[in-house]
Amino acid sequence: MKISGTAYRTIWPVKSGAVRVIDQSRLPFELRTLDLNTLEDAAQAIRTMVVRGAPLIGATAAYGLALALREDGSDGRIEHASRVLQATRPTAVNLAWALARVRAFIAPLAPGERARAAFEEAGRLCEDDVAQCRAIGTHGMALIRELGVSLRRRVNVLTHCNAGWLACVDWGTALAPIYTAYDAGIELHVWVDETRPRNQGASLTAYELGAHGVPHTVIVDNLGGHLMQHGRVDMVIVGSDRTTAAGDVCNKVGTYLKALAARDNGVPFYAALPVSTIDWSLDEGRLIEIEERCEQEVTHISGLAADGSVHSVRVVPEGSAALNLAFDVTPARLVTGLITERGVCPASREGLQRLYPERR
Ligand code: MRU
Repeated sequence: MKISGTAYRTIWPVKSGAVRVIDQSRLPFELRTLDLNTLEDAAQAIRTMVVRGAPLIGATAAYGLALALREDGSDGRIEHASRVLQATRPTAVNLAWALARVRAFIAPLAPGERARAAFEEAGRLCEDDVAQCRAIGTHGMALIRELGVSLRRRVNVLTHCNAGWLACVDWGTALAPIYTAYDAGIELHVWVDETRPRNQGASLTAYELGAHGVPHTVIVDNLGGHLMQHGRVDMVIVGSDRTTAAGDVCNKVGTYLKALAARDNGVPFYAALPVSTIDWSLDEGRLIEIEERCEQEVTHISGLAADGSVHSVRVVPEGSAALNLAFDVTPARLVTGLITERGVCPASREGLQRLYPERR
């Protein structure tokens, strides 16, 4: 996607042998890139959310493994690097999926050939992600178009967190249908949940949509229900960090409450995700490990001061405990449909198996 006329992806290899990423911890105030040179650089970037979003976490892990093998391509090094990367963030299944994909590709090779092969496979994984997100955009756009035709006015879409191109390699999952529809001339407007505690909606989704020219309004997380009661939301589209084989959707904390409000108000609720986000080994959403992050993300908030510097300030009294669970699970029964690269299906085992018959 473009920022000020320049096309960007979130991650790409550079001539020096490093892997360059957009440093998302600085957005929306500053567009800066960061070079990852080692396994630890990649692990740290995922842990500290310099890169984040399920597909991008997977892509960074794939490149992280390749970086680790530059010094030593032995089986032991692959094991060690995989363990380090896997321990960074537990919820998005794309991480384990990406490591397994690269490992399967390099396993039969001689140790000395593995680093180069891992870089190549990480590159293909990124290209696949871009193609899948583009296809999600096309399938999701059809839903927006249909709604626009029946409403005969602009379509108001609500989204939570950031499931845009910054969360993937390009295009995004939940935002891909929005970009595709906007580019096709469909009139739409996006309600952007700010997404406390880290404000990925306010800082990243608003940044992306603004850079592309998509009309949008940032709202506090608790406004969505009221807007739905008053007919001001026509559909909800969110991303996912892990979707079970039965269609339960794990996504940024607060997604479940939006799904409840959507159901109560007859608003269609879709989750957009590529195949790499489906955990075929899990049937029940409650079995998904939910990441717990540090209290400080809740007790403090950061923003731009009048002098142009970014500051973190405390918003909770000293001594009050804070709980920071980063994701929640929306049961399949509250999900109108899953938008995947293969099309839209009901959020159910049967629905997913119809799109992915090889998984029967
Ligand atoms: O904690 P984050 O910022 O990594 O969480 C991101 C989300 O919850 C996204 O909605 C999800 O990864 C889908 S991304 C296309």
